[in-house]
Amino acid sequence: MRLQVALGERAYEILIGEGMMAVESTWHSMPIGETAMVVTDNHVGPLYADRLRDTLAALGVQTAVHQLAAGEQSKTLASWAAIMDQLAEERHDRTTTLIALGGGVVGDLAGFAAATWLRGVRYLQVPTTLLAQVDSSVGGKTGVNHALGKNLIGAFYQPSGVVADLDTLSTLPTRELVAGLAEVIKYGIIRDAKFFEFIEQQLDALLAGDTEQLGRAVVRACEIKAEVVAADERESGLREILNFGHTFAHALETLTEYAELNHGEAVAIGMVMAAELSVAEGWLAASVRDRIMRLIQRLLVLERLPKGLSIDEMIEAFQSDKKTRAGRLRFVLTRGLGHAETSEAVSQERLRKVLERFL
Ligand code: NAD
Ligand code: GLY
Repeated sequence: MRLQVALGERAYEILIGEGMMAVESTWHSMPIGETAMVVTDNHVGPLYADRLRDTLAALGVQTAVHQLAAGEQSKTLASWAAIMDQLAEERHDRTTTLIALGGGVVGDLAGFAAATWLRGVRYLQVPTTLLAQVDSSVGGKTGVNHALGKNLIGAFYQPSGVVADLDTLSTLPTRELVAGLAEVIKYGIIRDAKFFEFIEQQLDALLAGDTEQLGRAVVRACEIKAEVVAADERESGLREILNFGHTFAHALETLTEYAELNHGEAVAIGMVMAAELSVAEGWLAASVRDRIMRLIQRLLVLERLPKGLSIDEMIEAFQSDKKTRAGRLRFVLTRGLGHAETSEAVSQERLRKVLERFL
């Protein structure tokens, strides 16, 4: 399957399918040049870097590899600097293409490295987690975390192409599959009630790693993401809906120093909180919240909600959210399946009441 992200001169293709990485024709439509650097992590590199490198070698592309330690704790300026060091030491010039081979951590970091090396070189996304295939590899948000908040340092910088090889999902740990499914559910809530129904019906197959159903989910999620990004590349309005549940999620991740929850788990919990806040604000019927809750409960992540967090520290952490304007907290809420909007005026009192129910 071939999708387009319609961004004028920054337009690019998303290729989705089984075995895409090892097929030479995949790369014919991807701009690479003669030299590439694959950025990957120490889980994904040993599994897939040789496969990618061999395919590219057959096409005459010389490929260096930069491998970092897996996990959110690597999404730092120090990891970015290590990529810069290797690029400089190996004398990579503006014709080098960076290739992000891995999950969202590698994708965000390699994208930011591409945005900044020599003021910008081309990069491709080869996402290997479900989360990265349905979300982070598309849309050009790149960056790293700061101790005071997630993704605070970064750039909008679009990739030149995305290759989502569904075969890579076969080695994904269940916990990471679940994390990706959280983002898949998000698309149903914010943009497509029928897709939400599809997920309700197919969740067992998706959780079991059924490639056909996962493929359908990746395609629909990418269609929605591509459409939203094409309409609002720099998040001045509509794109904010992609952050449904994320204000809560980023606070949970930051307060637990990225050590207790992965991003998708935090998003799953955050979406339940956002649905509850939507009801409290009078936007959403309790019956729809219950339906969202029932689906997310099937992911078995709600029990991972970190213990011992206080309402005050959550509210303090919300201040670092990129949607905050002059200290005014803004939340993406839902008015019903398939519809989300940013609320400009969430009542602090109701927000506290919602948090009380969970913490
Ligand atoms: P991740 O990159 O940490 O990957 C999760 C784990 O799975 C890692 O241990 C990784 O090594 C391993 N892994 C990856 N692919 C594998 C495979 N095929 N087989 C076996 N193991 C594999 O996490 P993630 O969930 O992919 O991404 C989360 C990150 O993405 C967060 O930093 C989040 O902020 C970011 N994100 C960015 C955007 C965006 O628009 N740029 C959107 C959503 C999330
Ligand atoms: N994941 C949110 C976005 O890409 O805008």
